[in-house]
Amino acid sequence: MARMTIRVLLVSSVVLSAACGGSLAATTAPEPNATPAQVAATLDPHTEARTRFQNPGGMWMPRQMPEHADTLASLGVALPAASLSDPTQAPLSAVVSLGGCTASFVSPEGLVVTNHHCVQGALQLNSTPENNLVENGFLAASRDKELPAGPAQRIYVAQKISDVTAAVRHELEAITDGLQRFNEIEKRQKDLVAACEKDRPGIKCQVSSFFKGSEFQLTEYLEIRDVRLVYAPHRRIGNYGGEIDNWAWPRHSGDYSFYRAYVGKDGLPADHAPENVPFHPRSHLTIPAQGVAPGDFVFVAGYPGATHRIQTAAEMTHAATWMHPRYIEKAHKKMALLAELEKQGGETAIKAGVTRQGVQNGLEKYQGILDGLKNSDMLQSKQAEEQAFSEWAAAEKTREQYLAALSAVRSKLAEVWAADAKDEAFHDVVASSQLLSQAIFIARWVEEQQKPDAQRKPGYQQRDESRVLGTQKSFAKRFDRNVDRAFLRYMLQRAAALPAADRAFLVPMLGAQRSTTLDDAQIDKALDQLYQNSTLEQEAVRLTLLKSTPKALARSKDPFIKLALQLTPTVKQLEQRDERYMGELASLSPTYVQGLLMFKGGMMAPDANSTLRISYGTVRGYQNAKGVTYEPFTTATQIPGKNTGESPFDAPKKLLEAIAKKEWGPYAPAALGVVPVDFLADLDITGGNSGSPVMNGKGELVGLAFDGNYEGLASDVVFRGENTRTIACDIRYVLWVMDAVDGADALLRELGVEPVL
Ligand code: ARG
Repeated sequence: MARMTIRVLLVSSVVLSAACGGSLAATTAPEPNATPAQVAATLDPHTEARTRFQNPGGMWMPRQMPEHADTLASLGVALPAASLSDPTQAPLSAVVSLGGCTASFVSPEGLVVTNHHCVQGALQLNSTPENNLVENGFLAASRDKELPAGPAQRIYVAQKISDVTAAVRHELEAITDGLQRFNEIEKRQKDLVAACEKDRPGIKCQVSSFFKGSEFQLTEYLEIRDVRLVYAPHRRIGNYGGEIDNWAWPRHSGDYSFYRAYVGKDGLPADHAPENVPFHPRSHLTIPAQGVAPGDFVFVAGYPGATHRIQTAAEMTHAATWMHPRYIEKAHKKMALLAELEKQGGETAIKAGVTRQGVQNGLEKYQGILDGLKNSDMLQSKQAEEQAFSEWAAAEKTREQYLAALSAVRSKLAEVWAADAKDEAFHDVVASSQLLSQAIFIARWVEEQQKPDAQRKPGYQQRDESRVLGTQKSFAKRFDRNVDRAFLRYMLQRAAALPAADRAFLVPMLGAQRSTTLDDAQIDKALDQLYQNSTLEQEAVRLTLLKSTPKALARSKDPFIKLALQLTPTVKQLEQRDERYMGELASLSPTYVQGLLMFKGGMMAPDANSTLRISYGTVRGYQNAKGVTYEPFTTATQIPGKNTGESPFDAPKKLLEAIAKKEWGPYAPAALGVVPVDFLADLDITGGNSGSPVMNGKGELVGLAFDGNYEGLASDVVFRGENTRTIACDIRYVLWVMDAVDGADALLRELGVEPVL
């Protein structure tokens, strides 16, 4: 246990020792026969500090960055730490959210760079039978040929971040009922958002919770609605290595693409219209003449979605023994179902293929987290840490509240988990079918519309309408009834196998008697009835229903709508039960986290929550579990060796020809003598960071984060700097492909680069 406390302290002392680094190597002339690393060390007094620096992890909030000033200075970072605390100042003002992915402005004309895998929807939407953009990629010949990325695509530009903790938490303790407390928190958040958006068209505001409800922030975003596809490389460049290389290293993906942000002539966000003009961002990232080298300082800014580091040992165990194994089991089965469906050919095969990629990505992610948890001492360390925390808290009267909070959190969670099997079956059935979840959404939407706007549930308000309607337009691109039915059937089968008490909802759903066993024949009969008679997959039908009234909806003959109306009371009942739990935890967790912060005695980063974060570290390789050491860069000349000619290792001829020519122009660093493709850095990222700019110490763009290594997946739970790596696409590869392969000359010039190849 004592060892544990030391380990915890060590994590923060790594930061401290780096911070105390100062000037370590004297600035003298390099030896004549010195290696490049030695030369660099003598030229740069901070090299040693960077070599010693081990990222302790942390997706830092901008407001925390000034606290990193000493560490950043010791690493030789030119950028003042304070400039990383302001979202309206360069370089952060260039970093934007795409809602699920990150991107950055790279020209004064609203040009935005992100990952290739983040623009798949736009490519799909614009594909025609004659020209499959998903496969062939796209390069707009001129500005007026740029394609709409779709009515639901957004670019969110952060304008301001303010602390609203007091406004949300004020006298919450006076409310003793959990549900009431939840409702009050929700109401306060809605009020803050409404006040922030009032009379400000084009502004979207969002309240986010940090440290389990200890701190709340309000972020104001400019919401750009006219987003256009400018350029995406060929799929076999952008997604080279496909799913085989996903979460893997070495890697050779050119995972980049470009959008452009458009606004109305008045400079305000507007719906897509030909007369709209490019948006002029506050700042844009520039590309340095020299890219990064091993050992260089880099940082990443972006919108990571979710991590689970601040959690109790019981939560970690629960995830490792219940949640993840079940997720994995279901994902395996879905993969098998999809593989079957792919054999059918046609539209179903294409949709099943796309779905399978997503399922596989998630499957590998959770398998990776589980492997990490199982094959390390993470669980034991967590338990030891919690034990040490408990002893620390018990040792002093003033700290006993923290211990009480921890044990109250524990028993509350145990209560929540008692309903696991039952909850899981219901949620899985509802979520498995897009038609069923759409029907439930429609039923809820129509019901909420009856209330005054301010009283509606978040997500069902006026402010959500354009996004909700926009999403309907892209439904057809994702939906396939064979896939939909196969998933629903599987979840119904799983639910049917539960003890009768845990699957009561199935009985009316399948039109069965309470006492009977539910067999496949009954399930298939119910499915026939649902799918043969529903018209919900038609966009016009859904749009009409969304705009209808509860009365009209009750008259609907659509079997999915009927089923949705039947299930809605249960949906709401479970929602309210969970809200009560959340309200109860809202008074316990912050106290526990406050104690944890004191116990750890240092800076702590909050878990990711889709808000703007910064992680910094260095470009470096790693050693995998088998003891293989990897260099931090891959190069273009490695591609032909990897290329079997078979998907996903089937680079387009034009790429292979350009590589064979070995004309690298200014894009190859002298040390490599060839264009780098991807690189590794010990940066702390997660899903949502895709497309995030990786910057050097001056805030210049050197790469695009697009993945992480398998060994690092468990970092979503416990960050392990020694083997967690971000995988980024080197900006020099982007430029070289643009120049040597795709001839994207006008775009290169817009990026400030003169094409030469
Ligand atoms: N694994 C990445 C993530 O989930 C996505 C990588 C996309 N590329 C791919 N081949 N699936 O964040």
